[in-house]
Amino acid sequence: MHAARLCMQSPVAVVPTLGGLHAGHKALLHAARKGGESVVGTLFLNPKQFGENEDLARYPADHERDLGIMRSAGVDAVFAPSVDEMYPPGDAFTVNPGPIGDVLEGAQRPGHFRAVATVVAKLFSATRPDLAYFGQKDAQQLEVVRRMAHDLRFEIDVVPVETVRDENGVALSSRLAYLSENERVAAEIVYASLCSARDRWTGRERAASALESDIRTVIQSEPLATLDYAAVIDPETFEPHGGPIPDTGALALVAVRIGTTRLIDNLRLN
Ligand code: PAJ
Repeated sequence: MHAARLCMQSPVAVVPTLGGLHAGHKALLHAARKGGESVVGTLFLNPKQFGENEDLARYPADHERDLGIMRSAGVDAVFAPSVDEMYPPGDAFTVNPGPIGDVLEGAQRPGHFRAVATVVAKLFSATRPDLAYFGQKDAQQLEVVRRMAHDLRFEIDVVPVETVRDENGVALSSRLAYLSENERVAAEIVYASLCSARDRWTGRERAASALESDIRTVIQSEPLATLDYAAVIDPETFEPHGGPIPDTGALALVAVRIGTTRLIDNLRLN
């Protein structure tokens, strides 16, 4: 990878992925193609960021298909390391994101953001990018990576890319592959709940608790859906606003289980 990197025109843009590529990933690759002179896509199904009872074993990554999608998106190189190459025996250091790694997704998935930060740091070391593209779909991950690049002085611009949705508003995710037809329809409730909060925000509701309970009520109206959390927080700190939300806005986030499939989504209110 380092040898290939030396031959590339700068700026080099990287798009890290787990595989199981869809139109959301394609949007990142296209943005990287526009923003960088060269693009490196990474395919690495990082086992360490999956909890013991999570979906690593059934994750829908298809290497040949994923390579084809990367190729059509015009990447200059794909970095697809093995698990042993990323975690050789003896490697013990990890990157601890600090408090932002412990709330919301981090509270539900202990160790998840430490594993994400560590693998992204390793992917950055391998690909040595100037720019790195991450989706707003995973808002907390984006913030973890942005802060890591800042706090550890990586001198990498972390570029956010807007969430790609299907025609019914469902945020594209590799995990949608697990859903039955009924469940896929039920999954529409996730974005609908965020839109309901946004409507109330537009109607001048400024209490996070009222917006959160609105999201909860909408999710509860769908029998196939179970809410993990609904949160309306300060997008800078990822902590609750102490008091009414300022007009500069908030970030509404939800995690919902549809059957055994866990989906996350978020929407800026401003
Ligand atoms: P993965 O889930 O494959 O996502 C790779 C990138 O695609 C992430 O930046 C994610 O936010 C973005 N993405 C996924 N769905 C999207 C959508 N509907 N619209 C826009 N962007 C979307 O996130 C990971 O992999 C891993 O944690 C990784 C960063 C690769 C570290 O292992």
